[in-house]
Amino acid sequence: MRTLLIAGNWKLNPTSTEAAAALADGVKNGLGPATDVHVVLAPPFVFLNKVDQVLEGSPIGLAAQDLYWESNGAFTGEVSGPMLVDVGCTHVVIGHSERRHGMGETDAQVNAKLKAALAAKLIPIVCIGETKDERLGEKTEEVLLGQLTGSLAGLTAEEAAGVVLAYEPVWAIGTGLTATPEQAQAVHAYIRGWLAQVFGEATAARVVVQYGGSVKPDNAAELLACPDIDGALVGGAALKAGDFLAIIKAGQDVTARGKS
Ligand code: PGA
Repeated sequence: MRTLLIAGNWKLNPTSTEAAAALADGVKNGLGPATDVHVVLAPPFVFLNKVDQVLEGSPIGLAAQDLYWESNGAFTGEVSGPMLVDVGCTHVVIGHSERRHGMGETDAQVNAKLKAALAAKLIPIVCIGETKDERLGEKTEEVLLGQLTGSLAGLTAEEAAGVVLAYEPVWAIGTGLTATPEQAQAVHAYIRGWLAQVFGEATAARVVVQYGGSVKPDNAAELLACPDIDGALVGGAALKAGDFLAIIKAGQDVTARGKS
């Protein structure tokens, strides 16, 4: 079975180093030294160093929320893969819908960032998902096909096996609306089918595909129990250690029970 990955995407929060350290410390202490699910925190760039120090000795990984595709040079305001590795990152979120839709990030850019992350030996968490209008227009699969094809272009099967995908329906992000387990599972099965077609069954079986979009302590268990949902990318509920720990616990319970 694939190991579940529960990741906390803090977005543009909190507003001080002290608060970031306290949140990371709360998760670290609540989780303890060992866990059978993978846990990752994604704070803003400026807190990565501090959070890395706080997390020392814990099994929790550290993610950045973005990276640039060049390693260094005249690119004002950007941060590269090697720099993220240097401050302790293990993972990096790429192509979040707030970047795709809010900042015009394209599949080609996501692809360049993904390749830069792999070159830096960071585990990429590549986000995909349809808007409300696209879902209502029954274009979900068509949109995902375009995002998957563009974002993962040129990868070998071995590279693809090391990519984490996060299916995040845009209409469910930060809205309190969650895809039902049936809706989410159907899309995850579609994504895994696409992976199998392009990279082969064995690779598809290895790829971790997270769900994201208003994951909360009270809906995590049923989402994580779905056969093709391999974890959660959590926004709002990751800003309270107690809520995030409850979601991790749901993942641990699912893991202990095993999936059908
Ligand atoms: P949310 O955010 O949990 O607040 O909906 C999820 C995300 O954007 O990754």
